[in-house]
Amino acid sequence: MSTVLPTRHTRLSVRDIEARKGGDPIVCITSYSAPMAKLMDEHVDVLLVGDTMGMVLYGLENTLAVSVDMMVNHGAAVVRGSQTSCIVVDMPFGSYQGSPEAAFDAAAHIMAETGCAGVKLEGGCVMAETIEFLVTRGIPVMGHVGMTPQSANVFGGFKTQGKSDDGARAVLEDAKAVEGAGAFSMVIEQTIEPVAQRITEEVSIPTIGIGASPACDGQIIVAEDILGIFQDFTPKFVKRYAELGANISDAVQAYADDVRARRFPSADHIYGAKKS
Ligand code: KIV
Repeated sequence: MSTVLPTRHTRLSVRDIEARKGGDPIVCITSYSAPMAKLMDEHVDVLLVGDTMGMVLYGLENTLAVSVDMMVNHGAAVVRGSQTSCIVVDMPFGSYQGSPEAAFDAAAHIMAETGCAGVKLEGGCVMAETIEFLVTRGIPVMGHVGMTPQSANVFGGFKTQGKSDDGARAVLEDAKAVEGAGAFSMVIEQTIEPVAQRITEEVSIPTIGIGASPACDGQIIVAEDILGIFQDFTPKFVKRYAELGANISDAVQAYADDVRARRFPSADHIYGAKKS
């Protein structure tokens, strides 16, 4: 059964999202294009222009080669295609780790060029100074702790974080550092439920889980994963809600068959043709 939400007339702000701590679950999904943003906008609270676009749209092996220009182009498209969701754009690898000043330049450029509400960046304790630098200069930040894909090479792959006592402590410390630095919310990716639950109980800002159990204040997922469009690999935490990949393949096969059999275009699709 679908939930009927009250009609929204204005865009949700980062403060609206922050105020949802402990309330109704926050619904987030990735979006990389205007048409997809238009389809998803009314159903969700946050559209994240994630750097997963490198893998999902560009066929890259990981997110490391995604550039600020790519984020700006896709971020602007998502803002144009949506009306009421809060739009957050990922800061790509290399654009913010060097220094708080470099992070500010990249984030300000992304905000100015896209019109997004805030940026997301990966990392906990090590990024706290940068998050504070951005927030105190007018840039809302969504944090991202747990399994942070831009550090997959350091982790030795896309590995679940927080499984050992030390690991759990480290993820919790990261989350608290992100909260203390002034982030308005944080993604917790791929960790075990007790860790996500403890963080959610102990921080005052919303936690948004992906592979981090229902204990979080909200959930985020890659749209193409749940729609069955991205099929290179499917993480355990993905539930398929549609098989659009198969639908697309069938539709293009039917089009190709029609063209080859000269059934398309027919009278309905030709200018000036008399309909029989
Ligand atoms: O890049 C992305 O899409 C993300 C989400 C999966 C959280 O960071």
